[in-house]
Amino acid sequence: MPVFGIISGSGLYDVPGLEITDSVKVSTPYGEPSDVYRIGSISGKEIAFLPRHGALHHIPPHRINYRANMWGFRELGIRKIITIGAAGGITDTMIPGSLTVPDQIIDFTKGRNSTFYDENEVVHIDFTDPYCSDLRQHIMDAAGKAAIKVITSGTYVCTNGPRLETAAEIRAYKQLGSDMVGMTAMPEAVLARELEICLAGLYVITNSAAGIAKDKLTVREVVETMAVSTEKIKLIIKAFFGMDFPGPACFCGQALKDSKI
Ligand code: HPA
Repeated sequence: MPVFGIISGSGLYDVPGLEITDSVKVSTPYGEPSDVYRIGSISGKEIAFLPRHGALHHIPPHRINYRANMWGFRELGIRKIITIGAAGGITDTMIPGSLTVPDQIIDFTKGRNSTFYDENEVVHIDFTDPYCSDLRQHIMDAAGKAAIKVITSGTYVCTNGPRLETAAEIRAYKQLGSDMVGMTAMPEAVLARELEICLAGLYVITNSAAGIAKDKLTVREVVETMAVSTEKIKLIIKAFFGMDFPGPACFCGQALKDSKI
């Protein structure tokens, strides 16, 4: 059974370096995941992979069945997930082409199913640190090993989309402490926490956010920057799976402890 999961986003519909050996369709009590889970290996480690927008990029961010996607990973026995995605850069260091491992999230999504505890049971999960510290460190160590520069912290503001932001929204998000903007980190991260799965993100800054960019934002820019960054992602992922994962120091595996009323 694979232990690691990878979710990819805009402009990346497969995992560079992943040799696929099987594909598994999983049905869940929450409906259908975005696609079949592709099972494969990198550096001898078994991995399950899912493109969050579907293989043909036909599911917009606000329509992704995040609960089904996460539940499906758990059904497959996945305990750790790396999410790969695109984001707009807000603060000065977040220039297009840079890679970042965010450590915080501000959630501005609305109307998404963002919990598995919707009925009968009241659970308040701790989400002080939305990403797994162990997994984040392992990604940063892998980047160091692959000699690829990554920005080692950052606050990701998650908008509902699918429209891009106004310039005033980006100015407001910046004042709130956001470094980068995207549409999919939530509720993905909190659902993983509710399932006691470790999750961390590796994001490509594909464009400067609205109002910071001089020109109109285009999807072409996102896809092109993602394509240019694929080689770097591949090297980080390869280094990641080439290294031994240290024993857990994080609390993700006991996230539900002391969270139920
Ligand atoms: N805004 C929201 N989501 C995004 C952006 C952006 O500028 N770039 C890539 N995903």
